[in-house]
Amino acid sequence: MCICIHETNIMRKNISHYLMGGKEMKKRLLSVLLASGMVATTLVGCSVGGSGNKKVGVAMPTKDLQRWNQDGANMEKLLKEAGYDVDLQYASNDINTQVTQIENMITSGCDVLVIASIDGDSLGTVLEQAKQKKIPVIAYDRLIMNSDAVSYYATFNNELVGTKQGQYIEDQLGLKEGKGPYNLEIFTGDPGDNNARFFYKGAMDVLNPYIDNGQLVVPSGQIDFDTVATAAWASDAAQARMEAIISSNYADGTQLDAVMCSNDSTAFGVANALVNYTGSYPIITGQDCDIANVKNMIAGKQSMSIFKDTRTLAKKTVEMVDAILKGGTAPTNDTSTYDNGVKVVPSYLCEPVFADVNNYKELLIDSGYYTEDQLK
Ligand code: BGC
Repeated sequence: MCICIHETNIMRKNISHYLMGGKEMKKRLLSVLLASGMVATTLVGCSVGGSGNKKVGVAMPTKDLQRWNQDGANMEKLLKEAGYDVDLQYASNDINTQVTQIENMITSGCDVLVIASIDGDSLGTVLEQAKQKKIPVIAYDRLIMNSDAVSYYATFNNELVGTKQGQYIEDQLGLKEGKGPYNLEIFTGDPGDNNARFFYKGAMDVLNPYIDNGQLVVPSGQIDFDTVATAAWASDAAQARMEAIISSNYADGTQLDAVMCSNDSTAFGVANALVNYTGSYPIITGQDCDIANVKNMIAGKQSMSIFKDTRTLAKKTVEMVDAILKGGTAPTNDTSTYDNGVKVVPSYLCEPVFADVNNYKELLIDSGYYTEDQLK
């Protein structure tokens, strides 16, 4: 551990003079100053932040999507309230930038890393350095794959997110009652994000039996994960794919009944692609309750979204950080689901909830997540 002296202006000259005078002089000066209380001393360096606090590195994927801004801000606030210094970084969805940011966090003395990865498979090498320095790593929201350096995972129940989206379509179309056939299209997320596979699986486990028995038809034929994935979860990419699907399969007046979108950014792109669509408006699912999407819900352009209260996830993650830094064991409630390829990562899964036009006020406004004005 290194020690740094924050001295007053009056003392600075004398101190530099003495510091040049060899180790013994430094030691004596230090003890005199400490004993006299004439300077403020602050421990910095290897394991303690500039303010004397332990430091937490928080690596977020991008500022482009509303949720990560909220996640980062909530975490920074709660960590600071808990007395930690925070190094919060966003990587513009660029994998190399995120790797460099994490490297810097490691070399600058962060005590714990909280990482929402851009690509779950790309952090193995940099996290080897964390492991060597015994820096615990919490995978935040997205699992980090193929690395034994990951200590914990804090997330929402990802498969349940997909299940709820699938069940919404099942309920709205009356599939359990045998209704159909209905036309469905499918949009999921980035293939490098392990969550996307869980969302897809949760939804498709509900919808596949109806595709198999003909109650649901996918006119584009685009069903398997790789075909319906959306690189970087980009709205533009989802919009372009939906536009192509409409012109090839629905331009003749074929009715589109439902679009299973794994999240709000893909749902936003799909809604944009439907501006000139003249059939009756399809069911569109989403996730995150981003402001633009809640506005779309109110305007009837998106049917539902899954609400993952980022305050809850940030709070749980800070509890984990706190437990680790106090030498304890972080709270977990799932020790079997999230195998990252080399280990099953002990996880805490928060509960996602379903939001639509009927309950958004209670969920989002009454809880203080948004103000009414933000949704106008
Ligand atoms: C998150 C979603 C988010 C998506 C795109 C996923 O890993 O779980 O909440 O919509 O990434 O950022």
